[in-house]
Amino acid sequence: MTSIKLSRPVADFHVHVRDGKMMELVVPTIKQGGVSVAYIMPNLVPPVTSVSDAVAYRSRLQAVDSSITYLMTLYLSPKITPEVIHEAKKAGITGVKCYPAGVTTNSDYGVASYVPYYPTFAAMEEEDMVLNLHGECPSIGHIHVLNAEEEFLPTLKDLHTRFPKLRIVLEHCTSAAAVQAVLECGPTVSATITAHHLFLTIDNWAGNSFNFCKPVAKFPDDRAALIKAATSGNPKFFFGSDSAPHPIVNKEKGKGASAGVFTQTLAAAYVAQVFDSVGAIDKVEGFLCEFGRDFYKIEEMAPSFSVTLTKTDTVVPNLLGEGPGAVVPFMAGETLGWTVKTEDL
Ligand code: DOR
Ligand code: ZN
Repeated sequence: MTSIKLSRPVADFHVHVRDGKMMELVVPTIKQGGVSVAYIMPNLVPPVTSVSDAVAYRSRLQAVDSSITYLMTLYLSPKITPEVIHEAKKAGITGVKCYPAGVTTNSDYGVASYVPYYPTFAAMEEEDMVLNLHGECPSIGHIHVLNAEEEFLPTLKDLHTRFPKLRIVLEHCTSAAAVQAVLECGPTVSATITAHHLFLTIDNWAGNSFNFCKPVAKFPDDRAALIKAATSGNPKFFFGSDSAPHPIVNKEKGKGASAGVFTQTLAAAYVAQVFDSVGAIDKVEGFLCEFGRDFYKIEEMAPSFSVTLTKTDTVVPNLLGEGPGAVVPFMAGETLGWTVKTEDL
């Protein structure tokens, strides 16, 4: 198969576009990557912790590109009470994102214990909202970046047991253990898989801050488990790019370099390349377009463009934007074997 016209564009269930100038630079790349539905992360500075913040943020996004359906999340913090959940549901907000304190970019306001949020989770379960979990424990004591996700898995299972009807997404899973845990949970638990974690292992980010993200890419066996899950056709696993733009100056820092890999511009091409490399290109549409939409039960605008994936070479640009705020895309300068083409309807 050398060309696939998708029945509908890609839905990307984990997108960082920031605000202000970075938002203006990055939002137009959502469509370029073949995506018409973007689930927008709330880790702005300060984070999105009220319904009015989320609604205003959605309007700013729409002003940059009105052809995308933006799905909004709130940043879990003490402000997200059960009352806020009921208000959020009425305002069309889809979910709540939970960052454990200190594990990644802009997670300083994150959660130290889940217990105080049980009433919030109960309200979300009642309203049928989605809980998005950044599944890592902070690096304290015996915990470090390589086992932080595995150490989190008992918490995933505990929350699922306490709130069996609450739809939970284990975001950007990176390990064989996480895949196994998601498979062991009931149908209300799913996981997103990024494009970059289908390519990267520990050797690729040790010494290369442009490939550094959280959770960090793990071992070759873990990557193999992710590829197997993504290409399996099991609807529990769907696409969430976790594309995370950072100004080049913050990536070139060495010590203290920001965590995040930017894949938005060629999102669907990276994924197609990996699926094709294991003979599973026939499974790509389910992963990119169908399973996430089904799990989220989303309402969206009729797409204003079509997307075709073609097996032809694309050279990944070296830079998006100019000056110190420019962003270096994943695999900059390398050639991908697949191209994303969008056509206005
Ligand atoms: O690598 C990451 N970057 N992981 C996250 O969880 C956050 C993201 C960001 O916001 O840059
Ligand atoms: Zn993220």
